[in-house]
Amino acid sequence: MTKTFQIKSFGCQMNVYDGERMAELLSAEGMTPAAAGAEADVVVLNTCHIREKAAEKAYSEVGRLTREDGSKPVIALAGCVAQAEGEEARRRSKAIDLVVGPQAYHRLPAMLREVESGARPVDTDLPSLDKFAALPRRRRAGVSAFLSVQEGCDKFCTYCVVPYTRGAEVSRPMADLLEEAAQLVEGGTRELTLLGQNVNAWEDGSADFASLIHRIADLEGLERIRYTTSHPINMGEALIEAHRDCAKLMPYLHLPVQAGSDRILKAMNRHHTAEDYLRVLDKVRAARPDIAISGDFIVGFPGETEEDFAATLGIVRQVGYASAFTFKYSARPGTPAATMDGQVPEAVKDERLQRLQALVAEQSRAFNASKVGETTRILIDRVGRKPGQMIGKSPWLQSVFVETEAGIGDMVEVRLTGALPNSLSGELVTKEQQQAA
Ligand code: 5AD
Ligand code: SF4
Repeated sequence: MTKTFQIKSFGCQMNVYDGERMAELLSAEGMTPAAAGAEADVVVLNTCHIREKAAEKAYSEVGRLTREDGSKPVIALAGCVAQAEGEEARRRSKAIDLVVGPQAYHRLPAMLREVESGARPVDTDLPSLDKFAALPRRRRAGVSAFLSVQEGCDKFCTYCVVPYTRGAEVSRPMADLLEEAAQLVEGGTRELTLLGQNVNAWEDGSADFASLIHRIADLEGLERIRYTTSHPINMGEALIEAHRDCAKLMPYLHLPVQAGSDRILKAMNRHHTAEDYLRVLDKVRAARPDIAISGDFIVGFPGETEEDFAATLGIVRQVGYASAFTFKYSARPGTPAATMDGQVPEAVKDERLQRLQALVAEQSRAFNASKVGETTRILIDRVGRKPGQMIGKSPWLQSVFVETEAGIGDMVEVRLTGALPNSLSGELVTKEQQQAA
């Protein structure tokens, strides 16, 4: 009997990518994805460990998988909680049948066979890049697909678990990436998002990240390139120039700064000041004036005073973000910040988070509104809810609703007509209008 599987990914886009590769791997073993709503024989929980709630969510997810009669699917704990907890995860929940870290998931089929013979295997080795060679080739992927180019992190920001759960910073070789990118484009992908914890630190011998972008841009049939996440200290001149020179590179940059106070940035071990960050953005905007900037922020880092927090609000005002992800500091066991003096009370974090989110929401709305009246190309990636309505992405990563007969994967020209808090509406620009213009 063919076994069915379900993969549930939490957290970052790297997990989404890993989830897709695990699905391909299990499919290559003859397993099939469970139908929507149906119970799968094997459930892979591809977890995130970056903040407390995400890990708790994974454990409660494990609990929910046990059915009323006490039976349950085979449960594989994967991702960063698996990496961080290892053996402990198995102890914490009897329902977990196997534990596999983010660098070891190519062993998932073998581990499932071990489960069948009664074992509860754990593999949290961190052998860099081994898994990629062991994964099947890419076939059908979405219109917009992720490509993992760099994994791990050597930066050791004092709040962050990533250097521990994902291991050291490792770049995949250029040749492998060009091959995987070509496979994806052949399978129908029009937009590639290059992924890495510090994607702009990617390198292969003398080739830097900008040259990787240029090489991928040469792929015929690929329309758009994006990348995430970047560290300010790796925003080199060549990459900034690529935003001016590479037409396929979209005008969107996710560049986290985390905080606006230099004292806090130092305690975070970020290796840059607020001023350094602003200087980088000035250069990026000079190269590509319409670029949308997004960021990540942590409020309530140990020792953060009201004055420090005011500096965070200040830098947000100075930058003018198209979007931003805002987080309350969460002490992660084993990280240096977890044991620092001056842990901020939860109520203070809550209050600061609300003020920051209000400011960011106002900026997002303003950014969306600033695009109304512009004509741009969108990449259709979803069917809308209303009849005849399709949803696509603008170059600035906004969702745009439009009535069109075009299908998923098509690029259409639209005039942006209205701004909602999280999306835009648009009207198709017809051929006649284009000619008249
Ligand atoms: N607490 C809160 N936010 C965190 N992040 C990383 N670690 C923590 C933590 N311990 C945030 C950072 C990072 C994003 C992916 O998650 O802003 O950029
Ligand atoms: Fe974590 Fe900092 Fe590395 Fe980003 S750069 S993954 S925040 S340690």
